[in-house]
Amino acid sequence: MNKSLIVANWKLNKTLEETRRFINDFVPLIKNSRDIDIVIAPPFTSLYVACLALKYTNIMLSAQDVFYEDRGAYTGEVSAAMLVDAGCSHVIIGHSERRQYFHETDEIVNKKINASRRQNLTVIFCIGETLAEREQGRTFDVLKKQLEVGLSGIAPENIVIAYEPVWAIGTGKTATPSQAQEAHEYIREWLTSYYGDGAKEVRIIYGGSVTPENINSLMERKNVEGVLVGGASLRADSFARIVNFKGRRF
Ligand code: PGA
Repeated sequence: MNKSLIVANWKLNKTLEETRRFINDFVPLIKNSRDIDIVIAPPFTSLYVACLALKYTNIMLSAQDVFYEDRGAYTGEVSAAMLVDAGCSHVIIGHSERRQYFHETDEIVNKKINASRRQNLTVIFCIGETLAEREQGRTFDVLKKQLEVGLSGIAPENIVIAYEPVWAIGTGKTATPSQAQEAHEYIREWLTSYYGDGAKEVRIIYGGSVTPENINSLMERKNVEGVLVGGASLRADSFARIVNFKGRRF
């Protein structure tokens, strides 16, 4: 069984001072964190400060995005090697907000995964359907295409799949535990047919309006091996309540 993974995605939030304060407040609140992997994804500007503040903890650091070239004339972009240099072990790729607002395609996502794996970053690869796609009964087709293109040529090592139904992100509408379980089962089957035995080490986590109130019922479900938390990760007390969930642990 894989260890559970809980990721805080801060999105476009927190100054340097707020980052330091969050970590100082959060670290004493978490219990038994050894049996869980905890990752925090601050904005680029806070990565190095977070890296210093997390030094004597086992909390890991992630970026929220990366560019696929290693260097060159790409104003505004940050490479995978730069993320490693700033202290990251993880990177979130293909988040639906990047697909929606920044026109990221599955092909771009695939290049970013490739570039990140070359630098040995663990990739948190986000996939998920929109409300319209779900209502048209196309959820599994959408997931299949995102997986097929996104993971083309990518080995299973250090890949995490984050299933994030777009209609559940930031809306307060969580997928029901059974909707999450059904999608996770589909993803697990797809991974097994693609990677064979190697699929076992790919963790599948859920994201979309996760809160301290619904974490137990989500984590109870088979194939839900962790969560990606946006809004509820911005306050140290609420993120700590999520990390300290009472349910099953791997
Ligand atoms: P949310 O965001 O928890 O605020 O819905 C989750 C995410 O976008 O990763």
